[in-house]
This record gives sequence, structure tokens and C-alpha cells, in this order.
Amino acid sequence: MARKFFVGGNWKCNGTTEEVKKIITTLNEAEVPSEDVVEVVVSPPFVFLTFVKSLLRSDFHVAAQNCWVRKGGAFTGEISAEMLVNLSIPWVIIGHSERRALLNESNEFVGDKVAYALSQGLKVIACIGETLEERESGSTMAVVAAQTKAIAGKVTNWDNVVLAYEPVWAIGTGKVATPAQAQEVHCELRKWLHENVGGDIAASTRIIYGGSVNGANCKELAAQPDVDGFLVGGASLKPEFVDIIKAAM
Ligand code: G3H
Repeated sequence: MARKFFVGGNWKCNGTTEEVKKIITTLNEAEVPSEDVVEVVVSPPFVFLTFVKSLLRSDFHVAAQNCWVRKGGAFTGEISAEMLVNLSIPWVIIGHSERRALLNESNEFVGDKVAYALSQGLKVIACIGETLEERESGSTMAVVAAQTKAIAGKVTNWDNVVLAYEPVWAIGTGKVATPAQAQEVHCELRKWLHENVGGDIAASTRIIYGGSVNGANCKELAAQPDVDGFLVGGASLKPEFVDIIKAAM
């Protein structure tokens, strides 16, 4: 089954109103392949979500960078999945390595979040990836399989899930995975899905790569058969994000 190329831009904790307007202008003026060819989703900080949504071209979509694990209530500082749905925000990023590391989000907690967000009708970009230490000790596949298992154990419908493989050592470091390294893990992840979830889901689920993707390295990565797109951090704040979208062609 053909998998539509997916390009996500994770703005992380960056931006002022003026900077956001500039990024949106660049995106709105960009000539990129149609929505039939590439799905583009940008993820500004919570405070800019509705502003971005109101200005952004209609063929691009928005994602929150996180949401609470259950129904909202007395959880100071959190944003619920219901709120995102109420604001017509279609996507949410869950399990980013920065949250796993800095906020101690465990595999189980990430799995619960993914399941709850899906149950409320959100589409999820679920992030996984190994640290440098884990890669060097040869446990990359064991780590990403455990992370994926915690998600797979709680997901019954994969239609609205995109799996983002983001090796921690490649995030924000300028040290991108080689196309061969990315392909190897993506291919293994697809095999894992095939064996543990099902052949159809393995064939149809998009597995995207994140970690120092930029305008110069995106084409070669995009040419790998199991790389179905990108989750871009730093470069999604710059005009070269348009070149990354064009890697879908
Ligand atoms: O979510 C995006 C990833 O953390 C990649 O960030 O492109 O700045 O390395 P980066």
C-alpha cells in the first residue's frame, strides 16, 4: 500500500508572534507538491496553535507538541486532548525524547497518552529512538522495539498513527543518521510491526525520521524505501523547511 510522504515541523519551545508570522508567510507562499503527494503538519508551541491555524494555508495542518494522558481536570499546566479537539487541532506529537528525558515520560506513560489521544479523535505522531549509549552498546533495536511495544499494546487502530524514529544522538546535534542507518532501523521497525501487529498495518503505517534533517540531507534520506517522511526540528523554523517538503517529489 502506498504511504503518503509526511513532513512534520516541530517548532519546540521557540518563537515570538513576529517570528511565527514570518514562518507562516514563507510557508503560505511556498510552491510545494499537492496534498495528494505530501502531508505537511507544523507544530508550534501551545500558545500559538490557534494563531497559526488561523493564518496557515488550508493544505497544511497543525499539531500540538504534547497533551495530557487522560481527561482534563485538576492538572495544573497541562492541556487535554479534549481541548485540542475542541480547537480543531487535528494532530499531537507524543513521546518526544526531550519529554522522555527531561520530564521522565516512561514507555508506559507514552503508550497511555497515545491511546487516550487516539480515543479522543486526535491523530498522533508517536516518537521513539535510542540514545548514543544505547546505540553504541548494540541495543538500538531492543530499545525502539520496547518503545513501540508500549504503544502497540494500547493501540487498536493504527490509521491515525505516524511513528517517528528519532535517534536521540541525532537531535539538534547536526549529526544526522546516514541514509543507511535510518533505513536499517525503519526496515526493522516495519518488520517488528509485521510480526507483532500485522502485515497490513506494517505496510501502511508511516515511519518518519527525525534528527538533524535539513535542506541538504533530506533528499537522500527520503529516497530510502522505508523512510516515509520527516519530523524536523531546527530546520522547520527556517525557509529550508520548504526544501524538505519538496523532498517528497
Ligand atoms: O522533533 C524533532 C526532532 O527533535 C529533530 O530535531 O531537527 O532539530 O534535530 P532537529
